[in-house]
Amino acid sequence: MIVCVCRRVSDREIARHARAGMTFDEVQFELGVATQCGQCEGCARDVVAQCSASHPVAALHRETGVQAIQLANSIQESNAWNSSRRSAAV
Ligand code: FES
Repeated sequence: MIVCVCRRVSDREIARHARAGMTFDEVQFELGVATQCGQCEGCARDVVAQCSASHPVAALHRETGVQAIQLANSIQESNAWNSSRRSAAV
């Protein structure tokens, strides 16, 4: 179902982004929903809220996203160091 007629954004698209952990503002920035006439904002916010509530893990990941990225980067650096060390030993 199309939620935003102006930008032709469906509830499925909004839900997919919300389940990925995006807030309404992030979904709005990404898809342009509710950026023209604004009539769809309430419905779009409801879709985001329903999806965020049903996927609390995604919301948790959003809050700790920066820390997770930093951890992932440090693991990659660590692995790169170990792999070059391993190849040097062989
Ligand atoms: S219907 Fe979404 S901005 Fe107009």
